[in-house]
Amino acid sequence: MPAPKGPVLPFRMGTPDLVLLVTDSTNGVLEPCNCATGMMGGLSRRSGLVRSYRAAYPDLVLVDTGDAFRVGHPRDPRNAFMLRAYRQIGYDAVVLADQEWSAAPSELRELLTKGPPEFLSTTANLAESPLPVVRIVKRTRGKMKLAILSDTPRASPPLLTPEVAKRLAFATRKRLADEVAKLKREGCIVVVASHGFDAEAEQLARSTGAHLVIQGHYRTGDAVPERLPNPPVLRVGDMEYVTVLAWKMRGGGVVDFEFRRELVDKRWPMDDALWKTYEDYTRVALSYAAKAKASDGMVYTSSAACGACHEPQLAAYKASGHAHAYETLLRVGRDGDPECLSCHTTGFESTSGFDSIRTTPELANVNCQDCHGFSMREHDAEGFKAPKVEAAACTRCHTPTADPHFDFATRRAKAGCKR
Ligand code: HEC
Ligand code: HEC
Ligand code: HEC
Ligand code: HEC
Repeated sequence: MPAPKGPVLPFRMGTPDLVLLVTDSTNGVLEPCNCATGMMGGLSRRSGLVRSYRAAYPDLVLVDTGDAFRVGHPRDPRNAFMLRAYRQIGYDAVVLADQEWSAAPSELRELLTKGPPEFLSTTANLAESPLPVVRIVKRTRGKMKLAILSDTPRASPPLLTPEVAKRLAFATRKRLADEVAKLKREGCIVVVASHGFDAEAEQLARSTGAHLVIQGHYRTGDAVPERLPNPPVLRVGDMEYVTVLAWKMRGGGVVDFEFRRELVDKRWPMDDALWKTYEDYTRVALSYAAKAKASDGMVYTSSAACGACHEPQLAAYKASGHAHAYETLLRVGRDGDPECLSCHTTGFESTSGFDSIRTTPELANVNCQDCHGFSMREHDAEGFKAPKVEAAACTRCHTPTADPHFDFATRRAKAGCKR
């Protein structure tokens, strides 16, 4: 095999017999906001990373160990696009984890069970069955065989009826350890994806005899991937990372094992086909958002209209980033994504708020009312006293994801309206 080129660095072990790429916790994010520095990721660059690795190791296996989809948003159209994107990137196995089973909107279940994707791997407990039902994905690469299983201890989803289970064509109904033993006899490298806690993952590693247990749900700052002896438990998470594993095998046994974590950053090329999928998603999402608009009790006015009587505040506002929040979206080419518009414009979810740059240009950007929280109706009423601007007015947008280091006391001083 040729030595890897570009950002793909060679392995210490030399040429591996098998390379495995693992992702987890994408949570339906096709392209992240990158509001705060350091946040990377996105499926376009992830695809670029996978392609770069495939150029160096054509036989690699690509697995997502869970929480790929968006749950808890019943009217969010993105899951169909997630599925399309995962097909485009060329996943070998995608594990359906506990969160997806227990909290997924029915659309997701339908999507996954209608014609169960060839790469879907999952385990779930049927309410009436003491044994979990397991769907295994097997892949052959040259002389190497790999089997992906999952263990989802707490998933006993009410909607997993026998009919749904049948449509998913679960392969077996057995104890996981028996299944692993059988797969090992067939000569497979066996990987079990776990969505339990540390102790459960370690227990799985000991009790099933799998070659590798991958524990999902890990977040930024939690831990670097951890390797415990015999067999290793690998902790993964963070949609902006791809964990890479390499094996050297001899006589059916693992003789060397190596891992690294790759940040999905600008070193990797963008994949235009994936960006196109994202853009297709935003078009559909925008039409969903338009239908979901409801009154929030506010009547939105432009900042300029408020500023007609509050000149110093208008001047301070104009000099602040809030007055340019929409330009930011234009600059990064994300002005068509309703998720971005919800914090970078005023009242996007409201029937009286920002609709589009063509119809409501005066409501682009973060406006006076986003912080002050009242309409002219209240302002004009007799005995009006402006409510104090509290931290909650800011943290609606300055969330831990968008602004992880937000501190009201210090940031308030920097926001508009300085006297
Ligand atoms: C027609 C002129 C006019 C317009 C338009 C106007 N205001 Fe006022 N506003 C006033 C006056 C007059 C007061 C009361 C005097 C004062 O405290 O400055 C006031 C008071 C306030 C106060 C309370 C000031 C304090 O010291 O407690 C806030 C906050 C405020 N306005 C915000 C807004 C916002 C936000 C808008 C747009 C939605 C707006 N105003 C539009 C004239 C106006
Ligand atoms: C409707 C959403 C929203 C609300 C509410 C909001 N912000 Fe912001 N804020 C943003 C966005 C978006 C940016 C980034 C603007 C850009 O550069 O594109 C930002 C940027 C900032 C900045 C840095 C940029 C600058 O020069 O102003 C500060 C400081 C800030 N906000 C403080 C606050 C404070 C304090 C509050 C509450 C009193 C608040 N924000 C309320 C969305 C909001
Ligand atoms: C929950 C609210 C929220 C959402 C949703 C959101 N943003 Fe932001 N965005 C912010 C805030 C707040 C800041 C300012 C952060 C700071 O000051 O550190 C910001 C800052 C930014 C910045 C940096 C601005 C600069 O130049 O300093 C970019 C770029 C950005 N957002 C893009 C996006 C994109 C793209 C999306 C949609 C995927 C998005 N945002 C969605 C709240 C949000
Ligand atoms: C980022 C949030 C934010 C935005 C945007 C904002 N304000 Fe304020 N404004 C504040 C805060 C915080 C205060 C301090 C008073 C308080 O804590 O209630 C304040 C105070 C004021 C006051 C009272 C007088 C003063 O200067 O203390 C007026 C009037 C006012 N703002 C008007 C406006 C107008 C008009 C706009 C739009 C052009 C605007 N504000 C935009 C946060 C904001």
